[in-house]
Amino acid sequence: MDEHQERPRARRRGQVPPPRAPRPQAPPPPGVARTDPSPDAQEGVPPPDRLLDPVPGPEDCGEEVRLRPRTLAQYIGQERMKANLRVFIKAARDRKEPLDHVLLYGPPGLGKTTVAHILSHEMKASIRATSGPAIERAGDLAAILTNLEGVGILFIDEIHRLQPALEEILYQAMEDFQIDIVIGQGPTARTVKIDLPRFTLIGATTRIGLLTGPLRDRFGIVHHLDFYPVPDLVQIIRRSARILGIDVDQDGAEEVGRRARGTPRIANRLLRRVRDFAQVEADGRIGGPIAERYLERLEVDRFGLDRLDRKILLTIHEKFDDGPVGVNTIAAALGEERDTIEEIYEPYLMQIGFLDRTSRGRRITARALEHLRLARHGSQGRLWE
Ligand SMILES: Nc1ncnc2c1ncn2[C@@H]1O[C@H](COP(=O)(O)OP(=O)(O)O)[C@@H](O)[C@H]1O
Ligand SMILES: [Mg+2]
Repeated sequence: MDEHQERPRARRRGQVPPPRAPRPQAPPPPGVARTDPSPDAQEGVPPPDRLLDPVPGPEDCGEEVRLRPRTLAQYIGQERMKANLRVFIKAARDRKEPLDHVLLYGPPGLGKTTVAHILSHEMKASIRATSGPAIERAGDLAAILTNLEGVGILFIDEIHRLQPALEEILYQAMEDFQIDIVIGQGPTARTVKIDLPRFTLIGATTRIGLLTGPLRDRFGIVHHLDFYPVPDLVQIIRRSARILGIDVDQDGAEEVGRRARGTPRIANRLLRRVRDFAQVEADGRIGGPIAERYLERLEVDRFGLDRLDRKILLTIHEKFDDGPVGVNTIAAALGEERDTIEEIYEPYLMQIGFLDRTSRGRRITARALEHLRLARHGSQGRLWE
């Protein structure tokens, strides 16, 4: 399945889909309304021109594949997850069974897709990849599931965006390795149970909270990917530099790593951009001072904050008295998508202690005010207590 085939998403519920080639038709979705709070039209994707965007841009694609670790041993960091996965992989292989279903969640760019491919490699099982929004109809999902012979692993990226009505088909497939499909139409229609080959479903999501409980519960292995500490990013940068033939020393790698928002994808991208400067304006070698100079040129600040991070923080400070303020209000004030703010910006701002999430909304922290050289509201001259 190919994401470029995405059809317009405006089709209303109840509208009959156009007739299709003879494909198994799964039962009509029980009348479940789409309650997903994130409207699909947004596609959750921020503008592609951001240097610090954790979502891959077109310029990442080729090199990302080159830089992607293939084995668990090459995968840097996330030690707890790796240790667990090693056990599950060995156990499954010893029993000659497929791995239990795996759910990976965490912000973009931290290595979810990479892990899915590594699991395929380590299990010696081939993988088929698709994504939640690309599966529009029950028939699409049924077709994917009934064609898994010899595949082993089905990877569904952005699984939180799978239509709720389709989740039910997935439950049955995950649990019983069977699906019910409807053959024929009208009064002669009948339901047939189809056995599926045993397979492992790997789901990836940036928004675990949007998954329904029953779907989440059907994953036997659930892992959260965390932002990477700087030493891990340094290792990732040095590994990428080796692969790409870039001369970077420890200080240079640290300088890049510190500003990469805890995200390998961004670390690799910053490395490539700094390389361009070092090559054109210096002798190509990336040491600490060179990295610092060019990262400043690229307007990547000491914490890896970009313009929208700063706008979010400034808005909370200037318009909402440092908070608490709801994320919808922030999004409206900035004219940005709520999803972008929640999925991409907030996790990192919270991670570095710049934003607090309370039951009443988001609050800016003293640390953020200090970084932005702002005075705290209501503190009457006493700045950062
Ligand atoms: N643990 C890691 N070690 C080395 N490189 C990594 C690691 N995690 C991610 N990367 C790099 O970051 C890129 C983005 O990772 P990806 O798996 O596509 O992230 P996600 O699917 O979570 O958005 C990969 O191509 C890879 O080069
Ligand atoms: Mg991915």
